[in-house]
Amino acid sequence: MSPIVKLTDVHKYFGTYKVLEGVTFEVPRGGVAAIIGQSGSGKSTALRCINALEAIQGGTIDVCGHAIQDPELNRRALRCDVGMVFQSYNLFPHLTVEQNIMLAPTCVKLMRKPQARDLAHQVLAQVGLAEKAEHYPEQLSGGQQQRVAIARSLAMKPKLMLFDEVTSALDPQLTGEVLKVMEELARGGMTMILVTHEMAFARKVASQVIYMHKGTVWETGSGTMLDSPRTAELRSFVNNGL
Ligand SMILES: Nc1ncnc2c1ncn2[C@@H]1O[C@H](COP(=O)(O)OP(=O)(O)O)[C@@H](O)[C@H]1O
Ligand SMILES: [Mg+2]
Repeated sequence: MSPIVKLTDVHKYFGTYKVLEGVTFEVPRGGVAAIIGQSGSGKSTALRCINALEAIQGGTIDVCGHAIQDPELNRRALRCDVGMVFQSYNLFPHLTVEQNIMLAPTCVKLMRKPQARDLAHQVLAQVGLAEKAEHYPEQLSGGQQQRVAIARSLAMKPKLMLFDEVTSALDPQLTGEVLKVMEELARGGMTMILVTHEMAFARKVASQVIYMHKGTVWETGSGTMLDSPRTAELRSFVNNGL
């Protein structure tokens, strides 16, 4: 079966600064890839390239049948297939939770409001927030807001979800409730790529761990690779976070 995402020898520069230097990996349908690595190793940039938020200067990226490097890339179709959740929730403060979630399905997919409202309630139930539909973002905790952001993404029925350090701004308890939602998504068969510092989560949930170092995939394998790293760099990262 063809992979949902396939990066082949991807090179990315910011000006003359090389951020990605031949990144290659693929994620099969239903796979959960956890990208780990030091700050500045290119993790966020790799995710942003997958979603065509950044142009690449070499190599190819195939995402759900879209060739990201193609100048004719249909971004609208890509956005429908790929959901992305960031560390900051970016909910609209003047809209209720339900309205935040209905926005993309009604505006992008031209779904009718009653149908979009049903969908909003369905995805809110999925993240355990069915009773918060009428609330405004400021009435929710950070963890709840992040779960709304995930629900908003789910409402577009993506084939792939990208998560960039979605729990980094949260305290441990709220982190736990967001990770639980992500674990359930993974169990439900969602294809996901997540950048995370949560090693226990990566070990437990990821089908594939990708350790990035200096803009390359330095080491990759299953979660157990974290217990017996092959490279000194990964060993040091696992032991010290360095
Ligand atoms: N828009 C940008 N312009 C210039 N340099 C950038 C930009 N975004 C990221 N970088 C640089 O690229 C490198 C990798 O960044 P990033 O992908 O955010 O790393 P990570 O997510 O692993 O911390 C860093 O050195 C960062 O400063
Ligand atoms: Mg980052």
